[in-house]
Amino acid sequence: MDFSYTEEQMMLRQTVREFAENELAKDAAERDEQERFPKEHVQKMGELGFLGIQVQPEYGGGGMDTIAYSLLIEELSRVDASAGVIASVNNSLVCYGLEKFGSEEQKQKYLVPLASGKKLGAFCLSEPSTGSDASSLQTTIVREGDEYVINGAKNFITNGTQADVYIVFATEDKSAGHKGVRCVIVERDTPGFEIGKKEKKLGIRSSDTCSLLFDDCRVPVSNLVGEPQHGFRIALSVLDKGRIGIASQALGIAVGAFEAAVSYAKEREQFGRPIAKFQAIQFMLAEMDLRIQATRLLIYEAASRKDAGLDFSIHSARAKLHAAETAMFCADKAVQIHGGYGYIKDYPVERFLRDAKITEIYEGTSEIQKLVIGRSVLS
Ligand code: CAA
Repeated sequence: MDFSYTEEQMMLRQTVREFAENELAKDAAERDEQERFPKEHVQKMGELGFLGIQVQPEYGGGGMDTIAYSLLIEELSRVDASAGVIASVNNSLVCYGLEKFGSEEQKQKYLVPLASGKKLGAFCLSEPSTGSDASSLQTTIVREGDEYVINGAKNFITNGTQADVYIVFATEDKSAGHKGVRCVIVERDTPGFEIGKKEKKLGIRSSDTCSLLFDDCRVPVSNLVGEPQHGFRIALSVLDKGRIGIASQALGIAVGAFEAAVSYAKEREQFGRPIAKFQAIQFMLAEMDLRIQATRLLIYEAASRKDAGLDFSIHSARAKLHAAETAMFCADKAVQIHGGYGYIKDYPVERFLRDAKITEIYEGTSEIQKLVIGRSVLS
């Protein structure tokens, strides 16, 4: 086992860190306050290759490995978790799925602009009454000649109001359960497709989350991704990869909170000395450090298995579960170390705490990760 980064991974980390610290950091708090999507930053991320980092160069991507992808999302989220999820969804849930399951025509038409940052994608699985039980979709899809007709609604869609390309899951036959689920590509300007309500959120407020409406929305049958009966498996397979991204987002939040806590503890004086001199503070920092290192190893194990072509479903579930708990723990302790200053918006740690919570919810709640792990250990 080799625990060192390659030169390419270290160079990428440096590039992302410079971008995050020089550009994202400037207005991260303001965008959070104003719930403003970082349009100009997303454009720059596209130019830097951050939106299709693992896609093969022939399709406009960076051709890098999954540890590099994890470093990218960690470094973005260390400064701005909203930027982290925007990039994670485009890389994992959209580009990865299209590269793995899409036709050559779909790759040329959709993957190339998505991977090279010219277009942005969204992944549309959740519905008002379909969350953890993801195959119980109510949105319908019916074949009529050379077209599919979609009717229904999606909600909690990341990148929803901003995307150009939507990967949509709908059912052609509810009685067939998960085998009735289809996966299709919908373009933003398709008649019958409408952007719905934009959500006001606790955290990741500068990322964009909305509902989508489909009213006799017609797409060509050539927009079907993969085999018709494999729609649900495509969703779960893509989510396995997505969970490495969200685990990395959670890791970035934990690291950001930890670093803020270390620097505050060294500066802040009480009882005549820096609070870092007190064991109560040192113990909190030690526990944060320990959980961060354990999270990183879990993520890299999942990433390495993925790149080696091994099954990594349980590994990404473990990584996401532990990473989300670590993000919550570290953000909470960082606020505690800051005391009253941690509770106000002059310091970034209250934002880290609000941002951390979503990592326990999206791309499968922590309970769903336990279900995946539990089923696997019992099989
Ligand atoms: N990869 C590929 N196929 C898989 C799979 C995987 N990891 N896991 C299971 N499957 C296959 C099974 O083999 C089975 O297929 P066959 O019958 O052909 O063998 C089929 O999928 C159904 O499997 P299950 O019976 O295990 O499915 P289930 O209904 O019990 O559900 C679940 C499993 C783990 C609970 C799943 O529904 C799940 O992960 N739910 C959470 C949904 C989720 O993560 N939503 C996130 C929304 S997207 C989001 O948050 C994005 C964002 O914007 C940030």
